Amino acid sequence: MTEQGFFTEATSAEVVISRNAKASNARLAEVMAILTRHLHAAVKEIEPTEAEWFQAIQFLTATGQMCTDWRQEFILLSDVLGVSMLVDAINNRKPSGASESTVLGPFHVADAPELPMGADICLDQKGEPMLVRGTIRSTDGTPLANAKIDVWQANDEGFYDVQQKGIQPDFNLRGVFRTGADGSYWFKGVKPKYYPIPDDGPVGQLLKTLGRHPYRPAHLHYIIEAPDHARLVTHIFDPDDPYITSDAVFGVKESLLAKFDRITDPAQIAKAGFDKPFFLVDHDFILAPS
Ligand code: BEZ
Ligand code: FE
Repeated sequence: MTEQGFFTEATSAEVVISRNAKASNARLAEVMAILTRHLHAAVKEIEPTEAEWFQAIQFLTATGQMCTDWRQEFILLSDVLGVSMLVDAINNRKPSGASESTVLGPFHVADAPELPMGADICLDQKGEPMLVRGTIRSTDGTPLANAKIDVWQANDEGFYDVQQKGIQPDFNLRGVFRTGADGSYWFKGVKPKYYPIPDDGPVGQLLKTLGRHPYRPAHLHYIIEAPDHARLVTHIFDPDDPYITSDAVFGVKESLLAKFDRITDPAQIAKAGFDKPFFLVDHDFILAPS
């Protein structure tokens, strides 16, 4: 493509795109052309004042300044704009019957301890006890042996261990489990609670200004890997949570709603190894062959 002439309001996008004609990376050139076209169309539709344009620049600057090794404000921005879930949807189109994915979120840690099946991941005995169990299967129904199940959850006050260092024990409410021949898994935790995404930065301010709350409905995170199957990054949600239809990051899908049954029968309480009523969550996961 050759230079499209001088820059005018009418030709702006095509002039900028043609300036990138010698890009050495074809994918980058394609992405920049699409972005430029849509960005210029948006600016033409918005017709921002110069003050509004500068406000946008200040917002993006503050978003960058909020980022540290453990705080990624740009990913949070992508989350609340629905872009993270859109990228997830595009990259995780599942065959029929396979469990659906959702956002990873910022609170996964790579070195959580591998625990014996059935272990209690709650290390501080706080919260209402919960038994989670199910089976990992392939789409043809075969139980998957040697599946690795990495789980993590917030506590009953809505905080992850990494947000409360020195208050919660390290690795509280996280663990890695491996299935045996029958593909089943089970572990103990506590009933999770809704919590706000980190909202003390520009993204939180944006939500406030837009009249949006920062809450995510109560959930448990899973990363499930099994030989010869696609990795599954997902959650299960409490369907009775007050924020179940308004997740701040759009992560809820109907198939990810689990059942949290409150068990009060003394015989079942004793069998599960608890000394008071507990929540029972039965949820199977189906992995797609890779
Ligand atoms: C989470 O579920 O841990 C999460 C996901 C997206 C943004 C913030 C938190
Ligand atoms: Fe979470």
